[in-house]
Amino acid sequence: MAAQILDGKEIAGKLGEQVRAEVKAFTAKHGVTPMLTVVIVGEDPASKVYVASKHKTCVELGMKSEVVRLSETATEEELLAVIDRLNADPLNHGILVQLPVPKHIDSEKVLERIRPDKDVDGFHPVNVGKLSIGKEHLVPCTPYGVIKMLEISGISVAGKNAVVIGRSNIVGKPMAALLLSRSATVTVTHSKTKDLASVCAQADILVAAIGKPEFVTKDMIKPGAVVIDVGINRLPTGKLVGDVKFDEASEVAGYITPVPGGVGPLTIAMLMYNTLRAAELQLQN
Ligand code: GUN
Repeated sequence: MAAQILDGKEIAGKLGEQVRAEVKAFTAKHGVTPMLTVVIVGEDPASKVYVASKHKTCVELGMKSEVVRLSETATEEELLAVIDRLNADPLNHGILVQLPVPKHIDSEKVLERIRPDKDVDGFHPVNVGKLSIGKEHLVPCTPYGVIKMLEISGISVAGKNAVVIGRSNIVGKPMAALLLSRSATVTVTHSKTKDLASVCAQADILVAAIGKPEFVTKDMIKPGAVVIDVGINRLPTGKLVGDVKFDEASEVAGYITPVPGGVGPLTIAMLMYNTLRAAELQLQN
């Protein structure tokens, strides 16, 4: 039997409607509209597309949004000065520095400069630490979107074997922390993992986040498993594919996310959710 498709666009649409309603109530109550500022350094074409999409969604959901554009040659000091200004601005609630930044800028230093309660990416060490002790504050958007997708689709996590392929700070590690705090038995695999295929084949929930096109094949999937594909890779032909070989995987899996239209829309939806949440956190203080 073919797998059930987890439709990220539809789920993101539902989440967006919730955020829109909450933004309206927040604005009416506090007389302040939640605002996100995205900072982009340089001209990376993919980053420009992502930033435009974040800005557009913010405005659609009734929030304010500003994009600060710095040139490829901007110095680290200039970028840090922008962050300092946004940290101090009471009308701005969320700050996101689009990654990657040019090589002459230390991204770790930049992410640490953002106030933790404005860190809508959830990348600041304070937010990473809170997540690891089960106190979710502002949580990285992509893995958080995966969790929301499972929740909304009625897929339980507690007691399941979850295997995460990839150990990045943006997806793999926070994904593992979120699954663990929801009582899954979590295995994190990576390029040095021995016999990866058989580890993956034990998974009730398999999350692929390695950035290798169509890496996960049928033999790596337990029949009926939930397969979540976080990858977005462009083939030389121009076609967009995930980290999972979709056609054959969907013959075996119970549920599967497509690429595009799976996890991607959830990432933006959770950024909107985090911006609203950041505004709430700041008004509490
Ligand atoms: N570049 C690719 N993904 C992300 C993300 O989640 N956040 C930021 N800031 N930059 C990215």
